[in-house]
Amino acid sequence: MDMMELIRTRKSVRTFDGKAVTEDNRKKLTEYIKTITNPFEIPVEFVLLDAKGHGLSSPVIQGEHLYIAGKVPLTEHCAEAFGYSFEKIVLYAWSLGIGTTWIGGTMKRERFEQEAGVNDGEIMPCVSPLGYPAKKRSIKEIGMRTAIKADKRIKADDLFFENDFSTPLNTDDVTVQNALEAVRFAPSAVNKQPWRIVKCGSDYHFFEKKSLPASGAAWDVQKVDLGIAICHFMSIAGGTLKTEKPDIASDRDAEYIATVTL
Ligand SMILES: Cc1cc2nc3c(=O)[nH]c(=O)nc-3n(C[C@H](O)[C@H](O)[C@H](O)COP(=O)(O)O)c2cc1C
Repeated sequence: MDMMELIRTRKSVRTFDGKAVTEDNRKKLTEYIKTITNPFEIPVEFVLLDAKGHGLSSPVIQGEHLYIAGKVPLTEHCAEAFGYSFEKIVLYAWSLGIGTTWIGGTMKRERFEQEAGVNDGEIMPCVSPLGYPAKKRSIKEIGMRTAIKADKRIKADDLFFENDFSTPLNTDDVTVQNALEAVRFAPSAVNKQPWRIVKCGSDYHFFEKKSLPASGAAWDVQKVDLGIAICHFMSIAGGTLKTEKPDIASDRDAEYIATVTL
């Protein structure tokens, strides 16, 4: 599968077939992890944790044997950097037929943080199970997907704009069209899809339209979503990242995050 196909076909997997990740795949994941970087240049550290050995589980996941946790220093743009790097592993895992689910809420957080060895000054925004999808989703998973409307996405005209927040973006550039579709397909917390993009020339300015109440955590989970969106966009279109606020009239509650220049 090419990158677009991986992005299109990835779905959260909460029901696994009960088989352990093979040694070969585990080795591939471990090697791949060493190569992951992000354009925010903030290092994200990954830890593979056997579920049984570490007493780890999630009330929404079944049949899993392995988790991956990520840790990042608590600093400006750390949530976006985390989102970008963690999504790289999500997509790579899927290329091996390994399913994942981003989990930021439905877990015993303290237990995961302890087993992942989170230090002072570090955060662990999310974890994911790693395993092979079961043939059928559990009733619980089906119910969850329906409740969150997990298969629905906001239409492009309400997400992508040109020069300001009122003109929908139209482009004949197939690579850009694909990159925008890749953003639409991205996973996000509670499927809120908080990303908005305003194109000005060859600059694509990413904004966060907050739609979840503050959780009290030291990081904003919707900034993790923005990192995922930027990862999808750059995985298709490339480009370079900068964080210089553009001089455009911003939507009332959209916060500037970063710009990808193609
Ligand atoms: C940052 C983040 C946190 C998430 N946290 C949870 C979670 O705690 N529990 C859960 O079951 N799913 C969680 N999800 C998965 C989303 O619900 C899911 O991505 C969304 O509904 C879209 O479905 P899809 O991934 O199948 O496309 C999270 C996703 C992201 C990106």
